[in-house]
Parts: sequence; structure tokens; C-alpha cells
Amino acid sequence: MTLCRQALPKVPVPPLKQTLDTYLRSVQHLIPEEQFKKTKAIVEKFGAPGGVGEALQKKLLERRDKTSNWVYDYWLEDMYLNNRLALPVNSSPVMVFPKQNFRDHKDALRFASRLVRGVLDYKALIDARALPLDFARGQLAGTPLCMEQYYRLFTSYRYPGLKSDTLKVKMDSTSSGPEHIIVACKNQFFVLDVVANGKQLIETEILSQLEKIWKMGENAEERLPPLGILTSDGRTEWAQAREALSKDQTNRDSLALMENCLCLLCLDEASGLEPRDTTRALLMLHGSGREKNGANRWYDKSMQFVVGMDGICGVVCEHSPFEGIVLVQCSEYVMKHITGVSSKMATASSVRELPPPRRLLWKCNPHILGLIAASEDRLQRLVNNLDMDVFTFKGYGKEFIKKQKMSPDAFIQVALQLAFYKCNRRLVSTYESASIRRFQEGRVDNIRSATPEALAFVKSMTDERANFTDSEIIKRLRDAINAQTNYTISAITGMGIDNHLLGLLRTARELNMERPAIFCDDTYLTSNQFILSTSQVPTTVEMFCCYGPVVPNGYGACYNPQSNYIIFCVASFWENTQTSSAVFVKALNEGLLEMRDLCNVDNTPGTKAAGTSQGAGPARKSGK
Ligand code: COA
Repeated sequence: MTLCRQALPKVPVPPLKQTLDTYLRSVQHLIPEEQFKKTKAIVEKFGAPGGVGEALQKKLLERRDKTSNWVYDYWLEDMYLNNRLALPVNSSPVMVFPKQNFRDHKDALRFASRLVRGVLDYKALIDARALPLDFARGQLAGTPLCMEQYYRLFTSYRYPGLKSDTLKVKMDSTSSGPEHIIVACKNQFFVLDVVANGKQLIETEILSQLEKIWKMGENAEERLPPLGILTSDGRTEWAQAREALSKDQTNRDSLALMENCLCLLCLDEASGLEPRDTTRALLMLHGSGREKNGANRWYDKSMQFVVGMDGICGVVCEHSPFEGIVLVQCSEYVMKHITGVSSKMATASSVRELPPPRRLLWKCNPHILGLIAASEDRLQRLVNNLDMDVFTFKGYGKEFIKKQKMSPDAFIQVALQLAFYKCNRRLVSTYESASIRRFQEGRVDNIRSATPEALAFVKSMTDERANFTDSEIIKRLRDAINAQTNYTISAITGMGIDNHLLGLLRTARELNMERPAIFCDDTYLTSNQFILSTSQVPTTVEMFCCYGPVVPNGYGACYNPQSNYIIFCVASFWENTQTSSAVFVKALNEGLLEMRDLCNVDNTPGTKAAGTSQGAGPARKSGK
């Protein structure tokens, strides 16, 4: 039992009528009128007294009483474990560190040994349950937050399955024998024991072990096939390959060492690419395929720290055990450790003579080599497909928005809606992660940001601009921001609709009922296709988070609001002709500037309806 389980309330089950009303309201303006009429009839029947909805709700309330978090397993399976897509780009978010300047590989290894030491210190805090308790900031600030996600950082492993994956978490990490990390170097994997004779390795000892690994990696004759690439494949494909691998005892032993490590350290080859923000983000997201560092990974493991010889560094994270906010806390701690410790290294005499790290051995037959080649091809397709644009908007940041007495997060969400509308002349189902860590074992629910008020605002900024005065548009902006803020408050207090609807659907399945009509309806299906998938991941140390789109025709948009600027990471797929990250970013920039102009007009006493400085027309698609 942890503090969190004892002290925090359970995630509530929202009232059925409230969820159904919100659902209808969140889809009405996004679908044709005829379709909405049909959906409304289906939803009303579902929610009628004595109807299916009431029966399912009753069961869900019982489940709430019996479990510590009624939605946890449903959500985990639906969001991650049942998803068959490859983890890189489609699921695993990354943190991108500032570009480091390494003189040579020794310098890079020195940085890496500090990083490992920082990770071990952080893990010691977790094991001692000594991390300071998190408290909510922003909306409804001050309540304590569940800390469980931290305990999964170094103890989790996502096993691929033929139909569904399994997330295994070692509950007591301190009692599971000697601790090791796995070092990936030149697509080979090495076991680095971090404890010797009952004492953890100090930084210089880690460095001397890394130097040995580096040398072993250089030995081309001993190199084994690039097994790591298999973990970058679709989950079913990887599960099949893992079954084939597991037939051999040597492979089973290597898999067990991999699956029980604390984390990976990936020593990447220099990429030969210009280290712009976008390039660094791409390299973290997919390693740039087999030709570069795509096989120097093991995607099932929750935390992979990447140190590139060209100074391109960051963290790749398997998302199912925790959210980006926890990843940020850990990454910031490690980065502060690296930049904070004295640059003077310990003297050589303090280094113990340690046995060399061991290479993980693999036995590969022609069948497995064929699977590796197929995984390489599929990763390459993903690499070629990802259209990424990391954009730092420098016009203003959180402080300007706060001065307008508006929520920065809501303002940015409305700006994302405006950008999408400028590009597509419509709004679409949008996902914004809302933390529900106020509750026991809380993860996230969804803020459906494409509100009717947002649609009214973006129309008045574009198609219907001529019909409105500035003050009318400002009113629409405030309405959109209020609607967004209210939805946020509702979601973070456990009143979101996505988890609830999922719970009702899963309850019906558990009762072996026919799938209720509400969940077969096209509206439900399309409303769960999140063409715009967004998330705020703020940092206090220089770094940024990014991830890919969640549907082929969508955008992933991660943002990091700072006092005077905002970093946006916009991702889409080149193969889709409807999307373009560059076009989206252009529209976002225009929209943010127009929204500033609007606020400035509002702030100027007596000013009316002046034109905006940027005067953006519809953003044109180009470059595909
Ligand atoms: N006037 C002035 N200031 C305001 C304001 C207003 N009307 N509304 C909010 N603010 C201030 C807040 O007080 C806060 O101040 P602080 O920076 O001093 O703390 C700041 O603006 C930010 O608040 P806001 O922009 O409203 O957002 P938030 O911090 O409450 O965040 C969510 C909203 C939805 C992003 C947050 O609740 C959440 O769930 N975060 C987790 C997301 C997540 O899980 N991401 C990772 C997914 S992998």
C-alpha cells in the first residue's frame, strides 16, 4: 500500500445522463445534421429509464466499489495493450535534450556515465519512497497527486502478445537480485551490472565499464544480428518473432536479462545530420531506421536513455506504465544531475577493478534473419513517413495569456483549433490529455477540445470575419476559452466522458451482451478517431517532448508553454495527402499572432474593429 492508495479518493463514475448529454454536445457540430438525428435517437434510447445504459451504469458503480480504480485496466488495454501498431512514432513519446558538444566519444561516454549515475540516484529516491509528493498546479491547484506512476519507471516491461500485450510491473524492485542496465552500442546489447560486492558503481567505475563496452562493440567479428529492430515492429509481428526466438535457451537467457534490466542506455552512432530541433526529435522518435540507430533500441523497455556521439541525446519511453509528466520529472532530475555535478572526475585510484560487461548472445536461424529484414523494411517505411515540425513560437508565452486573464492551456488549445480550421475548413474530434492523478492510480481522461464555442470562434476569425466586429470576436474567443476551461475542470475532476463510455462498453462485453447500438454508431467510431491528438508537456529545464499522430490522417501536437515562448512539436504522415506539418505550423503561427492582435485591441480603451497585422488567408497546402 502506498500513500496514494490510502489517501486519495477513487475515480468517480459520472452520472449517466451527464455523460450522454456531453457526448451529444461534443459531436453535434462535427457531423451532418441527419447523422446527428440518428445518433441522438440511439443515445436517448440507451439512456432511457430502465434501458441498457442504466443497467450498465449500475454494474460500473459496483465495479467502482470493488476496485481501487474502476477504469484503470479498461483504459490501459484500450489505450495501449490492445493496440497492434509499432511502438516507435505511434505510441512511445520522447524527450529531446539540448544538443551536447562532445569533443570525441570519450566525452560522450563521460556524459553517459553521469547520466547513469543520475538515473541510479533517482531510482534510489523512488525505492526509498523519498520523492516529494506532487501537488496539482494550474486549474484547481493544491490537491495532492497519485505517485504510483513513478514506481513503474524502472520496474516495468511491456511483453508483446499475439492479440494483446502484457505490462508487467515488478512491485518490489529492491528484492529482485543484482541490478543491471542494458547498454546498446552498435546494435549490440551489453549487461552492465550497477552493483559490485554490494556497492553501487560510482561514476568513474561506470565510465570504465562503458569504455570496455565501447571497445567490445568496435569488434566487428563478434557482432551479432541487430535484434533490437524486432521490437520496433508491429506488436503482433514482434510477438511472433519473440516466440521464434524463445525456442532457443541462449535467446531466452538474453531476453530475461533484457526484461529485468532497470533501463537501457543507447550509445548512438553520430547521425551525420544537422542537429536542428526537428532532426533531433526524429532521431529520438525512430532512430532514423536501420542505416542509423533504429536497431540500437529495445522498445518494450520503459526508459531508454539515448546518448549520441554527435551530442544528440534524449529519452525514449514506452508509454503504458506512465504519462509524460512523470517522464519529465525523471528527465529533469537526470539533466540537473549531469549539469550540476562537478566537472572534476574522481581519481583513477578510486576505481575498482570490475569484471567486464557481458554481451547478450543471440542464436539466429535463417527464419529469424528473415524476420529481422522484414522489421527493418517496416521501420524504414515509418521513418520515411513521419513528417515532423518542431516550431518555437516566439511571439509570446504563458505570461501574455495570463495577463488577458485567460488559461494558457485553453488559449493554446483554441489556437490549435484555429490552425486546424484554417487548413481544413472544419473541426474534428480532438484529444487533449487531462491528468486524473487526483485519484487513486489515476492516469488520464480526454478533454474534447473541438467545442461548439471553438467552432464559433474560428469561423468568426476566418470565413465569417467580415460579419463581426473585433469585440464580437473577442467575446467568441472568451466563450471558447471558458468552454475549454470548464471541460478541463470537468475532466481533471473525473467527470470526463471518454473513460466513462469506455467503461460502459467494456461492462457490456463482460456481461456478454450484444454491443449496444450507441457503440456501433458511426458517430461513436469517428468520434474516437482523434485526428488531432494534443498534449501539454511543460518542462522547467531546457528540453521538449514529442510524439507521432495516432491515426494515419491525423496530427500529433505536443506543446511546452514557457513564460515568453511556446514550443510546438507537430507530427503527421507524409503518406497522407490531407495533412502537412509545415502547413499546420504556418497556420498555427498566423492564428497565434491574430489572437494576440485581438487581445491587444481588447486591451486598448476605445479601440474598435481595427484590422489585424497579419491578415492571414487560408493556409495553403504545399510541399507534399
Ligand atoms: N487568468 C490568469 N491566469 C490563469 C488563468 C486565468 N484565467 N487560468 C489559469 N491561469 C494560470 C494558472 O494559475 C497556472 O499558473 P502557474 O503557471 O503559476 O501554475 C497557469 O495559468 C497554467 O494554467 P492552465 O493553462 O489553465 O493549465 P493547467 O496547468 O491547469 O493545465 C492541463 C491544464 C489539462 C494541461 C492539466 O490539468 C493536465 O492535465 N496536465 C497533464 C497533461 C498530461 O498528462 N500530459 C502528458 C500526457 S503523456
